[in-house]
Amino acid sequence: MKKSKFLSLMLAVVMLMLVAAGCSDSNSEVSVGIVLPTKDEPRWVQDEQRFKDALKGTDYTTEILFSQGSSAKEKENVETLINKGIDVLIICPQDGDAAAAAVEAAKKDDITVIAYDRLITNTDAVDYYVTFDSLAVGAAQGQYLIDNAKGSNTPLYLYAGAASDNNAFLFFEGAWKVLQPKIADGTFKIANSSEAEALKDKAELSRDELSKIIGQVTTNWDANEAKNKAQTHLTAAKADLKGDVAILAPNDGTARSIADVFGSDSAVSSYLVTGQDAEKASIQYVIDGKQSMTVFKDVRTLVKDAMGMAVEILDEKKPETTGSYDNGNVEVKAKQTNVIVVNKDNVKKELIDSDYYKADDFTGLE
Ligand code: BGC
Repeated sequence: MKKSKFLSLMLAVVMLMLVAAGCSDSNSEVSVGIVLPTKDEPRWVQDEQRFKDALKGTDYTTEILFSQGSSAKEKENVETLINKGIDVLIICPQDGDAAAAAVEAAKKDDITVIAYDRLITNTDAVDYYVTFDSLAVGAAQGQYLIDNAKGSNTPLYLYAGAASDNNAFLFFEGAWKVLQPKIADGTFKIANSSEAEALKDKAELSRDELSKIIGQVTTNWDANEAKNKAQTHLTAAKADLKGDVAILAPNDGTARSIADVFGSDSAVSSYLVTGQDAEKASIQYVIDGKQSMTVFKDVRTLVKDAMGMAVEILDEKKPETTGSYDNGNVEVKAKQTNVIVVNKDNVKKELIDSDYYKADDFTGLE
């Protein structure tokens, strides 16, 4: 072969290789897209890690994107994943209503949509919902306060999650159902919500009634907002609303900041405070006696259920479900997981012995 011919052949081969490399990059097919709400809360970083652990050694091509508290970013993330050719979208919405537009875009592309942990509301573009039993989370929080409060007329401080999150309604509804009779019989007196006070004789609250209370005592799932609200409430509270108090805090992030505020008020002699998520920082608070309890939601199970469902869909099988949730537009078929109440007494058994966390992540563990 002539030298010039050889060179042009080599050039062609190199060009082909470059084109091929370029193609595989731009076409990088992803079969399951995962969208999580924010990296700013340990809960969702935990979910990301558990997804990564579950996917180790599997052949599924997945991509996890975070919406950073923005529904616009969330929609952009979904569009990115649609363009990468996903067949299944697992999405935990930032805002249940606003996410409808994002999943409707996915549906148009024949993508199966699985709502993860939080329901997407008021749209028919959700196929499945994988969730913990959120009513049971709220009920466990309320029941803990009932079981551990002493005497009568205990001041009860109520806090809730973000009104844009359907779970905030379920948690509060679950808690209210058990707490309301104990408010009615004088075990507790509501300390910080005129809306709850106005509804204290009603065992079952409508969505609108729940909205009124949540609107007043929301933390927006923001630890700072929770802290500011708690400070405002304690500044306004007279002596009869201090002493031994009970606090319904919706999750661990808000519980720790509310606990810090109540713990530094010398007129508060003791406080009970609830939480959920079993975040590491809250497990330390529980061990140290600064947070009374948390509700452990084993994210490994949720991830396993969501990925299991996705794989069945990819294999063109029908996923198994255990019930359904009304999202305001359709009944969404759901797979639901139980939760575990954790306090100082069972923290080691539930979280260390189950290999969820390592003992040396904590100090003072017995
Ligand atoms: C989740 C909780 C979480 C909260 C704030 C809820 O939808 O179920 O686990 O603490 O959002 O991110």
